[in-house]
Amino acid sequence: MSVGIDDISFYSSGMFLPLATLAEHNGEDPDKYRIGLGQERMGVPAQDEDIVTLAANAARPLINSDNRENITTVLFATESSIDQSKAAGVYVQRLLGLGSNCRIVELKQACYSATAALQMACGLVARKPESQVLVLASDIARYGFDTPGEATQGCGAIAFIVKANPRLLAVHAETGCYSEDVMDFWRPNYMDTALVDGKYSTIIYLKALRQSWKNYHEAGGLDFGDFSRFCYHLPFTKMGEKAHRKLAVTNGVSMDVELLEKQIGSGLLYNRQIGNSYSASLYIGLLSLLENDQEDLSGQNVGLFSYGSGCVGEFFSVTVQPGYKQYSRRVQHVDMLETRQELDYEGYASLFSHTCPKDGGEHYFPSEAAGHYRLAGIHDHKRIYTETGD
Ligand code: CAA
Repeated sequence: MSVGIDDISFYSSGMFLPLATLAEHNGEDPDKYRIGLGQERMGVPAQDEDIVTLAANAARPLINSDNRENITTVLFATESSIDQSKAAGVYVQRLLGLGSNCRIVELKQACYSATAALQMACGLVARKPESQVLVLASDIARYGFDTPGEATQGCGAIAFIVKANPRLLAVHAETGCYSEDVMDFWRPNYMDTALVDGKYSTIIYLKALRQSWKNYHEAGGLDFGDFSRFCYHLPFTKMGEKAHRKLAVTNGVSMDVELLEKQIGSGLLYNRQIGNSYSASLYIGLLSLLENDQEDLSGQNVGLFSYGSGCVGEFFSVTVQPGYKQYSRRVQHVDMLETRQELDYEGYASLFSHTCPKDGGEHYFPSEAAGHYRLAGIHDHKRIYTETGD
């Protein structure tokens, strides 16, 4: 019996800021963002969107009358948590109409936590093969105006179902981890924006990659040459390119532009359009690979590197299942990205300055969300989620 990802979908906000607009406002050369960071647009959440609505919108296409009652666990990975106590997945359970005999928990370790969720889900399914686990990862990346990280902001959510004998990806048991107590990126509970030592964070990311790969290899994992494709955590897509070059050098492989494009290029497409989505980013990249690669990847191995600042890294691998292409939602995903509303700088600044009211009063938000679920307001410190009917 294999265990892995049976179905997968993603969602980002219905609004975006072109990074060329941000560059113009910040007095930067647009090529710094387009070429230097490898980013074109950032997803900007509406006032009536948060990690719950993004995740519920990502998961909605995966839920149907066949699996609604069979999902026994919901794991919600995020570092943009909306509550210190209640798991965001509990709201999603109600919005999606999942059964009540369900275990729900929220996981945190910066951008890494969705990988912990995936590994835990595989363990649960291996123990009880008839069960299905819904993994959600949803984040809004905020660094603040006029910071070096500003151009790497974004938002997005991924949802996938882990089950036995999956239709899309079998996850291998071998994995390699690396953890170290470092301060490269963090967000104290009393802050809305992340603190980051940007250059240091890229160095630690690459160190964690090398060490995770070493540990993966020692655990009996595949060789570099056994993989046809690789996916990396993508704070910005250029980071994925740097990571892949580093891994190639570590393995004595010479990496030219053509091989780089072949091995990671199709996995970068969606992230270039939405920006950093923290915990969801690696898996949106994986989905981008499955939906956009020109080759049939059936039976081929994909290597994945998950990184969460602070830090935890994990290198692991999957095999693409024959016939995976027939379950693709590429048309819907591309349509979702292409029908987004473009913001000017003022529109972005106004939305990104919006923070949730904290006074316990009755607040209702303008109806801006493009998806099926929205955060209608907050009353008495309670979030009110509704359906838009779209
Ligand atoms: N044309 C083409 N390229 C240009 C250019 C131009 N006109 N101007 C600059 N560039 C290039 C630079 O050469 C540089 O490329 P290299 O890194 O290959 O040398 C690139 O554009 C970026 O330029 P800078 O290094 O000058 O940019 P910066 O210092 O202003 O900011 C950053 C870069 C530190 C990554 C910043 O965006 C940041 O702090 N981001 C947030 C932190 C982050 O994403 N860290 C990644 C690792 S941590 C992680 O992965 C977890 C997570 O999700 C946060």
